[in-house]
Amino acid sequence: MDRNLPIILAISAASGFILGIKTLEYLLEHDYKIELIISQNAYYIAESELGLILNNDRDFIKDNILKFLNLENKSENLKVWLDSEFHANPSSGSYKTAGMLIVPSSMSTVAAIASGYTSNLIIRSADVCIKEKRKLLVVPRETPLSSIHLENLLKLSNNGVIIVPPTVGFYSEPQSLDDCINFIVGKILDLFGIDNSLYKRWSL
Ligand SMILES: Cc1cc2nc3c(=O)[nH]c(=O)nc-3n(C[C@H](O)[C@H](O)[C@H](O)COP(=O)(O)O)c2cc1C
Repeated sequence: MDRNLPIILAISAASGFILGIKTLEYLLEHDYKIELIISQNAYYIAESELGLILNNDRDFIKDNILKFLNLENKSENLKVWLDSEFHANPSSGSYKTAGMLIVPSSMSTVAAIASGYTSNLIIRSADVCIKEKRKLLVVPRETPLSSIHLENLLKLSNNGVIIVPPTVGFYSEPQSLDDCINFIVGKILDLFGIDNSLYKRWSL
């Protein structure tokens, strides 16, 4: 991966906001450039699951997240966009990126990407990654999955999208919720081509 290119990271309104935040934390700590888009519907989830307050003010989102992660020193590497900002960088195929991660992704966002109905910046950015043949990784969060969800996910997979359900490999012997989160984030990063040692790998 070209380290000079930014990575688009989107967080949509599914349970598991922490997975998106921990992915962001790892990437910023390791000096990746990030273009972050958080769905407006996810603000409620950020507050209810993490006590993290967000609103429709880009600077407020950026400051609050960097403070939450204690990573104020990484401000230069983080660009924040609202999901209503279709003029944003990731909206155009001519803006080069290393690809996009959606962590977690709601079934609504999965469905919209699968149908090409680009009604917000997250969906538009994913649509651009698919058409430009760039890496797109989606972490779908729902259980159980209906045939509609599965068909939409199959359609994405058939278009080259990497589907990474947030499930834990118990062979890694997790002892805490943090271990489970690190396993999932480690797998996400592995599949995006980012080396990490966030979890205990299988080795005999
Ligand atoms: C607390 C809460 C948790 C939710 N969890 C999920 C979830 O895990 N998966 C999902 O597909 N939708 C979930 N939803 C529903 C989505 O938020 C809803 O479909 C929303 O329209 C998705 O918006 P977005 O795709 O623009 O982010 C949840 C809603 C709330 C309020």
